[in-house]
Parts: sequence; structure tokens; C-alpha cells
Amino acid sequence: MAVPSRAVTTVRLRPEGLADVAPIRRLVAQAFASPETRRPPEVQLVEALRDSDAWLPELSMVAEVDGELVGYALLSRVLVQPGAIPALALGPVAVRPDRQRRGYGRDVVQAALDAAAELDERLVLVLGNPAYYRRFGFEPAARFKLTSPWSGLGDPWQALVLPSTDGAVEPVPSGEVIFPAPWSQV
Ligand SMILES: CC(C)(COP(=O)(O)OP(=O)(O)OC[C@H]1O[C@@H](n2cnc3c(N)ncnc32)[C@H](O)[C@@H]1OP(=O)(O)O)[C@@H](O)C(=O)NCCC(=O)NCCS
Repeated sequence: MAVPSRAVTTVRLRPEGLADVAPIRRLVAQAFASPETRRPPEVQLVEALRDSDAWLPELSMVAEVDGELVGYALLSRVLVQPGAIPALALGPVAVRPDRQRRGYGRDVVQAALDAAAELDERLVLVLGNPAYYRRFGFEPAARFKLTSPWSGLGDPWQALVLPSTDGAVEPVPSGEVIFPAPWSQV
């Protein structure tokens, strides 16, 4: 099967700006659209997180091609208990349906993870298809003794330990990952 080409396009990866709010809403709605719902819960998740303490503006990452948003990846704050140790949740991740399978998902997720590592973040959690997230280095979170309301789903509950910028080797936190209220809607 032919692979869609992006050979002549340049993707720009950057944190969201004020003008991106409405385009992100549209992009997430398109990517998660289904016959059952006109407004997928992931749209409301992004809006509610943006209004919450969990929001980290530099980790709301967009992929832009020719001035149009084609991809989106969000990292936001979660806490590992005991100790209220800060970690990040990845999601939603969305690529415009007509631009999928051209590597934009990979690029925008990797850009968000790289930005998080630069900010000395240590741990990222995701609930998603292991076949997709494995390529970024995610592993089953159970290996790190990390639990959440989604642990029972097994392998889709995944964790990634980010490389440290100064080479320091710190222990990976284990425990219960507490997601802020907006996540209870998805
Ligand atoms: C999932 C998504 C973000 C991937 O973005 P993308 O730009 O299409 O993906 P990339 O081009 O970077 O990667 C393509 C690879 O991912 C795989 N892939 C794409 N979507 C996948 C999915 N939902 N599950 C598993 N693998 C997937 C493709 O098979 C392809 O694999 P290959 O490289 O081995 O051929 C995009 O398809 C999307 O927005 N989907 C709808 C929303 C969604 O499901 N988001 C993820 C929630 S966990």
C-alpha cells in the first residue's frame, strides 16, 4: 500500500499560542469524531485542563504545516501518591484525519516529550494503544508499580521515564497516580 507523502512539507512544532485555542478544539473534535457523539469528550478534556492547575502551557504542543494545525499532543500535571510527586499525563493526542499516517503524530508527541525532558520532568503516563506508544519508549506502567483507575485495563496503562538532562539517575516514583477532575469525564 502506498504511504502518503510529506516529502515537500516542513512541520513546525511549538507550544500552543492564544490563536491556537479554537483550531485545537476543531482538530481534536475531528480526530475523535464518531457516529455516537458530535462533541467527543476529549474536546472538553482539553478545555477543562486548560482552566485547571494541571495546565502547563509550554507542554501543549502543536504541529503546524503551511500555517495550519495538523497535530496536537498535550502533557498535563498528575501527582503520584504517596508524596504528591509531580508527573505528567499524555493526552489527548490528535492528528487531523486527512493528515494521519505521515509521521505528524510521532513528531508532535516526541516534541512534547522532549520539551518535558528539558523542563526536568521525570515521568509520563499514558492510557492508549501500546502498539502506538511503544515507539516512544512507553512500557506497561505495572512494571514501575504505578496504579490508576485504569490499571485494570492492563498494557494500555503505560509509563515512560524521561532522560535526565544532567545525567543524574533518580529513582522512578511508584504508587497511585492521581488524575485531576477533568479526567473523570473521559
Ligand atoms: C493516533 C494518531 C494520533 C496517530 O497519528 P499519526 O500521525 O496518524 O501517526 P504517525 O504517522 O506518527 O504514525 C503512524 C503509525 O502509527 C500507527 N497508528 C496510527 N494510529 C494508531 C492507533 N490508533 N493505534 C495503533 N497504531 C496506530 C500506524 O499504524 C503507523 O504505524 P507504522 O509506523 O508501524 O506503519 C492519529 O491517528 C489520530 O489522531 N487518531 C485519532 C485520535 C486517537 O485515537 N488518538 C490517540 C488516542 S490514544
